[in-house]
Amino acid sequence: MELNKITAQEAAALIQNGDNIGLSGFTPAGAPKIVTHALAERAAKEHAEGRPFKVNIYTGASTGQSCDGDMSNADAINFRAPYTTNKDFRRHVNNGEIAYHDMNLSNMATQLRQGNLGKVDWAIIEVSDIDIVGSNAQLYLTAAVGISPTVCRMAEKGIILEYNLHHAGKMRGLHDIYEIEYHPHRTPVDVAGPLSRIGKPYVEVPVEKIRGVIECDLADEARAFTEPSETTDAIGQNVADFLLYNLRHGLIPKTFLNMQSGVGSTANAVLGAMGSSKEIPNFGIYTEVLQNAAVELLLSGRVTGASACSLTITDEELQKINGNLDFFKERLVLRPSEISNNPEVIARIGVCAMNTAIEADIYGHVNSTKISGTKMMNGIGGSADFTNNAYLSIFSCGSTTKDGKISSIVPFCSHIDHTSHFVDAVITEYGVADLRGIGDMERAKRLIAIAHPDYRPLLNDYLKLAAKYGGEVHHILSAAFAMHDTFRRKGDMRLTDWSEYIKD
Ligand code: COA
Repeated sequence: MELNKITAQEAAALIQNGDNIGLSGFTPAGAPKIVTHALAERAAKEHAEGRPFKVNIYTGASTGQSCDGDMSNADAINFRAPYTTNKDFRRHVNNGEIAYHDMNLSNMATQLRQGNLGKVDWAIIEVSDIDIVGSNAQLYLTAAVGISPTVCRMAEKGIILEYNLHHAGKMRGLHDIYEIEYHPHRTPVDVAGPLSRIGKPYVEVPVEKIRGVIECDLADEARAFTEPSETTDAIGQNVADFLLYNLRHGLIPKTFLNMQSGVGSTANAVLGAMGSSKEIPNFGIYTEVLQNAAVELLLSGRVTGASACSLTITDEELQKINGNLDFFKERLVLRPSEISNNPEVIARIGVCAMNTAIEADIYGHVNSTKISGTKMMNGIGGSADFTNNAYLSIFSCGSTTKDGKISSIVPFCSHIDHTSHFVDAVITEYGVADLRGIGDMERAKRLIAIAHPDYRPLLNDYLKLAAKYGGEVHHILSAAFAMHDTFRRKGDMRLTDWSEYIKD
């Protein structure tokens, strides 16, 4: 059975204004590249000719410039969910030009299944190989799984495939495709550890649903990691030391936990520091996004097995996996996001969640998503999926950003994604605030102790002034956001003058 080879422009022409499109990928890894770019060009042409053209985008997580970037710049996106890291997309959302729904990534496929986001018209899927078996096509995905199985099954108008020769024949056997059933017929997800396999290595679809195949040869549009700095190295070391403290005191099992590591340069440095520690035993990874450091740890044997949804790594690291497939198939499983981030599996197998914060407040609440409480950064991603179900949950961040003008430890988070109930420790380059088993006022002391020295007096003054108002936790409601407001007005949180904000 022959599949219909078409061009990216022909694929874009199939899509109608208002259509709902489900995409493969998770982060720029495995996301479509040429059809979305052609769709952006089509939108620009339609707009130039006075016709409306916008679509709704559903993904596993972020995509690359040729999707989120080009499409938002062409005003081609009406609504999008969930997480994204693209700077152009972020600008358009923060200008109020695109409707954006942030949600826990474990829940995205379920939300689609329940119909909460409407129907799925199209699935645009990047594949590394296609086998035709009878009337079905077996689709081998590329560097991520995301929500591909669900959108392929649900797509009513059809599936468009980007057959990416960059990966052809090199990724078979890495994926474990399993889709959760509809409620109320769900059965337990039988994953017992990072290397459990419960599904098939491919997504199976009826051939008749495939409306066209476009060939390309393109690397993922991965973002380069910023070089490690003194700050990220110190944070990494503090996290590794904290894990050792837990190990020595019997607070985590001697056989260790499965590690989840968040996104970004700090998260990459944390995993690197863990790998270098002589005392931390070899460990497993159960995570959403595998970054560069994890590939090296798999190769060295420090990581015994890894489960992830996506290989968010540079092309150089990806080639190490593609060129050594037999080794990696035994040690690495790529899963749909509803399995990699499955709350029940995470809670059961024992995961140490290590995520990065934008800011934490003096009582241990964490903001992961909104700068100054208003501007979206990326989204919550899988941070709550892991944090809320972790054996041990850690947030780390540099103590300041923007040349010291912003403190990451503040009186009250300007937006809260993770309440203190789920935050066991916050770690900066100045140390660890272990928040377990203590009262709120002791939490405040420990969190101020890991703030940048420039900000400790300011935060201590806040606490002293707030004591006058009493309560189980001390706050001055009129001054709780004074540091954020001072940054907005004067460009530096260090210039905060509490007396300007205390009304009585
Ligand atoms: N106020 C204002 N800006 C802030 C800030 C704050 N309190 N904290 C960070 N920023 C800015 C930084 O200055 C930087 O800006 P730039 O891009 O202009 O340089 C940007 O936010 C990124 O900060 P950085 O320190 O480089 O962080 P990172 O790359 O480690 O990413 C998060 C940090 C929180 C944005 C990122 O981890 C994230 O998106 N997390 C949410 C999702 C998640 O945790 N997923 C993992 C689940 S598996």
